[in-house]
Amino acid sequence: MVNKKIINEISKSNRGISIEKYINICLFDTEGYYNNVNPLGKSGDFITAPEISQLFGEIIGLYIYNIWKEKFNNNFNLIELGPGKGSLLLDILRITKGFSKFKENLNIYLIEINKTLINKQKKNILFNKLDLQKFQWNSNISNIEKKNSIIIANEFFDCFPVRHFVKRNNKWKEKVINYNEDEKKFYYQFEDIDDDKTIIKLSNYSTNDIAEISNQSEEYFESICKFISKIQGVFIIIDYGYYDFPGHFTLQAILNHKYSNLLDNPGKQDISSLVNFKSFIKIAKNYDLSVEYLNQKEFLENHGIVKRKESLKKVANEETKIEIENAFSRLLNEKNMGSDFKFLIISNK
Ligand SMILES: C[S@@+](CC[C@H](N)C(=O)[O-])C[C@H]1O[C@@H](n2cnc3c(N)ncnc32)[C@H](O)[C@@H]1O
Repeated sequence: MVNKKIINEISKSNRGISIEKYINICLFDTEGYYNNVNPLGKSGDFITAPEISQLFGEIIGLYIYNIWKEKFNNNFNLIELGPGKGSLLLDILRITKGFSKFKENLNIYLIEINKTLINKQKKNILFNKLDLQKFQWNSNISNIEKKNSIIIANEFFDCFPVRHFVKRNNKWKEKVINYNEDEKKFYYQFEDIDDDKTIIKLSNYSTNDIAEISNQSEEYFESICKFISKIQGVFIIIDYGYYDFPGHFTLQAILNHKYSNLLDNPGKQDISSLVNFKSFIKIAKNYDLSVEYLNQKEFLENHGIVKRKESLKKVANEETKIEIENAFSRLLNEKNMGSDFKFLIISNK
């Protein structure tokens, strides 16, 4: 059980475990959330943009086709990180299926660590009558041949764990998780920080009393920047995130569509946090890569979502027309997805 595994980790430590370690077990353990719960879609804990409407993936598909034509026009990798149910990839492939040269030159990779979702992705590919042989799965991008690549990651980085820090008497302390054997409950305590790398990062938060840092997502992002810097590549990241730290912890747990306590129901609830795009941009610039940063509404409008919506409506019945309009508003709503979701596009100069 996830609970037992966490308690076991805590018993091995003399300071409790970091929130990062707790989240890793809750989400990614073989018995954790992503391996056992069906998180995505209308019945799941959350619904992602590709699950809301085909419009999202189609606009990205056309964008990818244009990049390929302009930059490569020959053999290339299309790599998706954390494809979930595979809906985004399938929308991209459907909208580009008429471009025969693009199709012939395409090597498709799905980077996924979750066996349950890999099975779901395979089922969806077969359901869409595509040849499974054309798709390759890998747990890590470093195993993929280094050639021209377009890499896409939608709501991938928000499930990476974070660590929490608070300033007490002008000194940073880490918020860690411990276990009370008598009450059979997890609780927080504050401990000195035990690594220099984190102390250096905390110097960026000098005007704040709290800090939320995801070393794992920054390291992962950096590995992709490294990959791109050795080839010709474009990396499209779409996620719920911020440029300037909002001054409060963004970590949240969701169970059955409702906010829940992080320490309750380990392994049974979704856990996510906002992506720190400022730190990603800084890393990309260190690799001398180009950076484009805009919100979801701007990206989708700039790349033709209004026109595509109208052409879908032309062949739809009245009920479907309403559904298309509702999904369109949801994707572009400035009070929600349209502005909170960001597109970060990284490429070689
Ligand atoms: C929130 S879901 C997003 C799903 C999908 N991109 C979508 O928009 O519907 C996160 C996905 O990333 C996968 N994942 C998380 N960490 C990963 C890692 N380190 N390597 C590969 N896949 C990972 C999860 O299993 C899941 O498929």
